[in-house]
Amino acid sequence: MYALITGASSGIGYECAKILANKGYDLIITARSIDKLNKLSDEIKSTYNKDVVILPLDISKKESINELFDKTKDYKIEVVINNAGLGKVGMFYEVTDDEDYNMININVTAMHMVLKHYAEVLDNAYILTVASIASFCPGPKMATYYATKNYIRSYAEALRFELKKMKKNVGITILAPGPVNTNFNDTANVTFTLKGVAADKCASYAIKRMFKKKKFATPKWSVRWATRFMRILPHRTSMRICYKSQSKKQK
Ligand SMILES: NC(=O)c1ccc[n+]([C@@H]2O[C@H](COP(=O)([O-])OP(=O)(O)OC[C@H]3O[C@@H](n4cnc5c(N)ncnc54)[C@H](OP(=O)(O)O)[C@@H]3O)[C@@H](O)[C@H]2O)c1
Repeated sequence: MYALITGASSGIGYECAKILANKGYDLIITARSIDKLNKLSDEIKSTYNKDVVILPLDISKKESINELFDKTKDYKIEVVINNAGLGKVGMFYEVTDDEDYNMININVTAMHMVLKHYAEVLDNAYILTVASIASFCPGPKMATYYATKNYIRSYAEALRFELKKMKKNVGITILAPGPVNTNFNDTANVTFTLKGVAADKCASYAIKRMFKKKKFATPKWSVRWATRFMRILPHRTSMRICYKSQSKKQK
């Protein structure tokens, strides 16, 4: 059985790959950085003796997403980690149009299509979609990122509902972590104001929740409580908190 992981070259995706190989899965790993994918593949093959299929793709492009679907169609996939994504901090005018297009293409379009496609073609399967605690409210000073994560959380919840109606055995778990120590910060141009969780701990918690078919996975109890609180706060209040916290984080 294969596990497909998008954004497997670093951070949460990379750790998910190692955990799933340790659980006995063969892997299909994708990202743009071929060197990092090769290194991960060597590590998986030598440590766990599993098959690893490498697909170097830029999933901000429609043709790459189609290529991903085409090249994975003959594999028996049981797990999909829909993870590749990125953020950018700043006032809306500080984020360039290209950065906005890129974020929307990856965090919304690619994540949407991956979720939709595998929810349709797989059965008896588990899908982990990586959102964020940012998925529960609007996020001034990181507006696009928050909006993309709200989108994918909403879409994933609706699909999970429809799959249940269809009596289809495909679990969708939404990973909504707080800060995780990965390359995310450098890409987003931020420094965390809260202590981040190690990527391996985040991945291991998320995978446990995924196999239990839980709706959400939020590692760290303090972030879980903060999220619950955030979900009942009026948006005006949560946006004030977000604006302050993103201002402190911006490098
Ligand atoms: N770290 C956090 O604090 C945090 C918190 C909440 C949610 N998240 C979410 O967690 C997910 C994983 O991020 P991370 O924290 O593990 O950060 P990361 O270490 O920067 O990993 C991001 C992954 O996405 C891939 N990726 C980026 N652009 C891509 C593209 N155009 N095509 C294909 N792959 C692409 C990267 O691979 P290449 O660069 O090799 O293409 C990399 O493997 C994201 O969806 C992020 O929004 C992270």
